[in-house]
Amino acid sequence: MGFFSRLFRRKDAPPPPLPEAEARDYTLAELAQYDGSDPRKPLLLAIRGEVYDVGRGRDFYGPGGPYAMFAGKDCTRALAKVAFERELFTGDMEGLDQDELDKLEEWIEIFEGKYRRIGRLLSRG
Ligand code: HEM
Repeated sequence: MGFFSRLFRRKDAPPPPLPEAEARDYTLAELAQYDGSDPRKPLLLAIRGEVYDVGRGRDFYGPGGPYAMFAGKDCTRALAKVAFERELFTGDMEGLDQDELDKLEEWIEIFEGKYRRIGRLLSRG
């Protein structure tokens, strides 16, 4: 980095954008590779069978972010229950009540509006 760019660079300058994720289907094991621990890789999460590229939300989902525990995971149950205990990061929707299903629907609308849906979460593999 040159003298002038060093001199004028804002101390809180954002890091370079993350690469865009490949549009394809992902297994849960593959999804886990995109949890933000490698800054050169996209940041992904899944909700109700769909995979989203949440790279533009790295302040939320990247390392040190308030929702870093979402990255690379199936967030279905956690979002439905608006809670982030470890065991809630599963696609298991068993026993969710109507309020929780409605909440999940609201989150999906938010993610559809804000992030790129890039593929399906494969149930095996
Ligand atoms: C004290 C508790 C909480 C506070 C104060 C809080 C606050 C916020 C705020 C202010 C935003 C909007 C940020 C923005 O758009 O700039 C946000 C977004 C969000 N929150 Fe929370 N939150 C809390 C708890 C939770 C919990 C328990 C969950 C777990 C499901 C959650 C999941 C999310 C998600 C998924 C977003 C959307 C981020 C995005 O746009 O990608 N929050 N929260």
